[in-house]
Amino acid sequence: MESSAFHIPVSRRRLLKNMSVVSAGFTLPGYLAEAITLTPAQAQGPFYPLIDDIPLDKDNDLVKIDDHLTMASGVVTHVSGRILDRNGNPVRGALVELWHADRLGEYTYSTNPGPNPRADPNFAGFGQFLTGSSGAYRFRTLKPGIYPGRARHFHWGITLPGQQRRFSTQTYWKGEALNDSDFLLNSIGDTEQRDSIILAFSKVPGTTTLEERTTWDFVSHFTPVEPAYPGSGGLMIEGAKAAGSVEGRRRFRISVPAYRGYTYELYGNPPLANLGWKLLPFSLTQGGAIDQNQHTAAGDGVVSFYLEKKTPTGFYFVSFRVPGANKGTP
Ligand SMILES: [Fe+2]
Repeated sequence: MESSAFHIPVSRRRLLKNMSVVSAGFTLPGYLAEAITLTPAQAQGPFYPLIDDIPLDKDNDLVKIDDHLTMASGVVTHVSGRILDRNGNPVRGALVELWHADRLGEYTYSTNPGPNPRADPNFAGFGQFLTGSSGAYRFRTLKPGIYPGRARHFHWGITLPGQQRRFSTQTYWKGEALNDSDFLLNSIGDTEQRDSIILAFSKVPGTTTLEERTTWDFVSHFTPVEPAYPGSGGLMIEGAKAAGSVEGRRRFRISVPAYRGYTYELYGNPPLANLGWKLLPFSLTQGGAIDQNQHTAAGDGVVSFYLEKKTPTGFYFVSFRVPGANKGTP
């Protein structure tokens, strides 16, 4: 939980704030209820990457592109925090997107490139992160340059599970004079909301390259909707040749989407081709233990089974059962 070192949980922050309000003599209950500051929306702007321009390397490190030997140049900047719902609960499965100008104020992706497009070809310009159950996110990027008409800023897109639209906002650098004249920042009427996206940056101790860091919790207006998981059922699945071989023999792989706690069981489907059990061993890895034709998923993702032979039809049947269901052979 590396983020805990930087963050006061919202519940505690709210308590601290309530205490200060009480001690100042204010007792309006409505005021207390508003103590969590919802992140204000800010325009997406014209520089979100076009669909054809989204880089293949769109991870949370914008400083280093996969196949480039050289890192982007500028002040390396770390930003981390959590994605929270309007009640302060961490949101799992939120898509966090970050894009911004390079050190010279140029965007990597643009419908309207400036005079110096792609000033730094080693800067990814765009990255994304998918939150886990802690709601935490983290990026390594650069301090963006300033371009005419705007204060220094990051662009953010946050998409919560169940939401079909990206929520756009921007964050700014505390103490910079241009903040006072930035039309977009100053279009936010609520002082607390405006202050919540002006971030304080500090030097990272022990770095020789003057790296900087900040933390920022995004508080959503929306309530996330968990994806609807299926009940028990079954899937017809086509097997595929697995890469490589085990002891000189090829294996066939049968992969299905997996949800945490669900139990998956593989059959050579009798109505299609009765395999019996002669095609064992089943295994959960290509070279793994035999007789494993049933598996309970520890997390969301993919479960793969391996077989020595393909069915004559090429199809298999994978049953899945909800968490807690009887795991005996049906
Ligand atoms: Fe911008």
